[in-house]
Amino acid sequence: MDGSGRWCGMPAWLFTVALMAFTVHIAQGEDPDTTPPNVTCTDVTTRPFLPNSFLGLNAGVEYTYEDSNPDPSGVTYNVTKGPSGDLFPPGRTPVTMYAVDIFDNEATCLFYVENTLTELPVNCPDLNRTVATDMGLPTYSYTPSIEASDVTKSTSGYRYHGDAVSVDPTTAIGSKLDVGTHLDTVLISDEVLSKTCIGYIVVQDIEKPNVTCPADITESSTNVIQYSANVSDNVGASVTYSPEPGSRFNPGVTAVSVVARDQAGLNDTCSFVVQVSISELPVEYIPPQETIQLDSADATCQYPPITKDDLTLMDSTYQFYGDVTVAVLFNGTENNTLSLGTYILTIFIDDTVFNKTCLTVIQVEERPSTNGRSDITESSTNVIQYSANVSDNVGAPVTYAPEPRGDSKSSGFSTAELAVSVIVPCAVVLLVVFVIGFSVYYYKKSKERRKIKVSRTDGKQSSSTKTSDV
Ligand SMILES: *[C@@H]1O[C@H](CO)[C@@H](O)[C@H](O)[C@H]1NC(C)=O
Ligand SMILES: *[C@@H]1O[C@H](CO)[C@@H](O)[C@H](O)[C@H]1NC(C)=O
Ligand SMILES: *[C@@H]1O[C@H](CO)[C@@H](O)[C@H](O)[C@H]1NC(C)=O
Ligand SMILES: *[C@@H]1O[C@H](CO)[C@@H](O)[C@H](O)[C@H]1NC(C)=O
Ligand SMILES: *[C@@H]1O[C@H](CO)[C@@H](O)[C@H](O)[C@H]1NC(C)=O
Ligand SMILES: *[C@@H]1O[C@H](CO)[C@@H](O)[C@H](O)[C@H]1NC(C)=O
Ligand SMILES: *[C@@H]1O[C@H](CO)[C@@H](O)[C@H](O)[C@H]1NC(C)=O
Ligand SMILES: *[C@@H]1O[C@H](CO)[C@@H](O)[C@H](O)[C@H]1NC(C)=O
Ligand SMILES: *[C@@H]1O[C@H](CO)[C@@H](O)[C@H](O)[C@H]1NC(C)=O
Ligand SMILES: *[C@@H]1O[C@H](CO)[C@@H](O)[C@H](O)[C@H]1NC(C)=O
Repeated sequence: MDGSGRWCGMPAWLFTVALMAFTVHIAQGEDPDTTPPNVTCTDVTTRPFLPNSFLGLNAGVEYTYEDSNPDPSGVTYNVTKGPSGDLFPPGRTPVTMYAVDIFDNEATCLFYVENTLTELPVNCPDLNRTVATDMGLPTYSYTPSIEASDVTKSTSGYRYHGDAVSVDPTTAIGSKLDVGTHLDTVLISDEVLSKTCIGYIVVQDIEKPNVTCPADITESSTNVIQYSANVSDNVGASVTYSPEPGSRFNPGVTAVSVVARDQAGLNDTCSFVVQVSISELPVEYIPPQETIQLDSADATCQYPPITKDDLTLMDSTYQFYGDVTVAVLFNGTENNTLSLGTYILTIFIDDTVFNKTCLTVIQVEERPSTNGRSDITESSTNVIQYSANVSDNVGAPVTYAPEPRGDSKSSGFSTAELAVSVIVPCAVVLLVVFVIGFSVYYYKKSKERRKIKVSRTDGKQSSSTKTSDV
């Protein structure tokens, strides 16, 4: 009848049960009472501070009332417990109450004890934490930050179902967590209820990189220098060189600084020294040919200009500092028109920082004649057309133009020309003079003899042979 229920103790329980025993035992005792007590029950909801306990009755304890006076309290009663004794799980648990009067008349009534908990009433521990990567490793090996003893109840009257509370992280113990933020989910439970607690694990890298510089470098053959530093770091670091390896160094001493920085921004530095101790420009000039052949003793040739492309680097990695200038002296003069002879070429090469003077000897000599050229025989005219192929006179890189005057002054032509222009006309004139003289003489002779004869002279055809040697 009174459903509000005070379930904190045995007397209170009586409130919820209306015992109507007085209706069954009015007489003075002569007639045995056969009417059971009139019992009514009301459902109960556990109270917040004892969320899973129902302490209304103690099992096996009888409450009796000796007086025959029908009194509600003169009833013996007991109550069954829930499946877990007096621990009542979440939900509605049926409870049967037995009431027996002094004449052993028994009555029962059923009521429900309701536990409204849906979650284990514990406080979530602070699972937020910042951890460092394991020594020498890029990861943190997960271990839970709390254990059962760290769990506190949010309701002190709650009694755990089972022996104790358990703590179970959803992340497997030993999992490797990378640098960064990871959710840490932990399930706290007893045998009936549980609660999920979350926090964040921030894994940080606190190990700085370790960079080791190479030993100081002294370089005497090139100005382009390669190097590398050794770096170790648990998560990996990038290396920055200043100046970069493979860059062109100025002569003298240059400090190289190396910075290794990992993802966490931790850095380590080292430095070393690069010394470029080149004494002269590391180039050489090798002439395409040491002997230049001319076709005649009178001919000259122009030695071609020497450019940067004609130079050979003695160390192929060397990089010129600036524009390369090449100045050449032929036996001490800048005149590159060479005739027969030996020339000492003094070549001064400068790249604005380093310079070098190279000496090389060039021989200009006359080409041996009559090797494969065809002669020209002309029998019908004294005007001779000819051309000479000159490209083979000087080696490929050298363009050599034979003097064009060679067609009138070349010694190869002088004998034939003399024959054509002097001997032949003289011979003709002499022949004509001879014929005229002989004719006059013969005429006088015949005139003296008074004979008239007809004289006849044979025409002689002259021919000239000309030889041209190219
Ligand atoms: C039991 O008590 C209730 C309430 O007082 C009443 O309504 C009911 O009639 C009684 N029953 C008997 C059998 O006396
Ligand atoms: C309660 O009383 C009933 C009836 O007398 C009896 O059968 C039952 O065993 C009792 N329960 C307990 C726990 O004593
Ligand atoms: C844990 O960290 C999260 C996110 O930073 C924050 O929202 C939460 O309040 C923190 N928890 C505790 C118990 O400090
Ligand atoms: C850095 O590396 C070098 C060579 O591996 C080692 O000798 C040195 O002890 C390391 N330094 C640190 C701080 O680990
Ligand atoms: C880098 O490591 C390699 C191999 O361990 C070693 O041979 C080399 O000398 C190291 N260089 C520097 C600059 O420490
Ligand atoms: C290296 O890190 C320190 C702080 O640890 C910082 O002061 C310094 O500037 C950094 N060096 C470079 C080159 O970034
Ligand atoms: C260069 O030398 C050639 C002959 O060796 C000569 O004929 C010419 O005049 C010279 N040129 C100059 C500019 O001196
Ligand atoms: C150039 O100089 C060398 C050495 O002094 C000499 O032998 C040679 O005859 C010179 N050549 C000419 C064309 O003068
Ligand atoms: C050539 O280089 C040397 C040193 O390398 C320097 O003393 C000299 O002045 C340079 N000559 C010229 C013409 O630049
Ligand atoms: C010159 O070269 C041309 C073309 O190669 C060739 O036909 C001719 O016979 C050559 N003349 C001489 C004299 O070698």
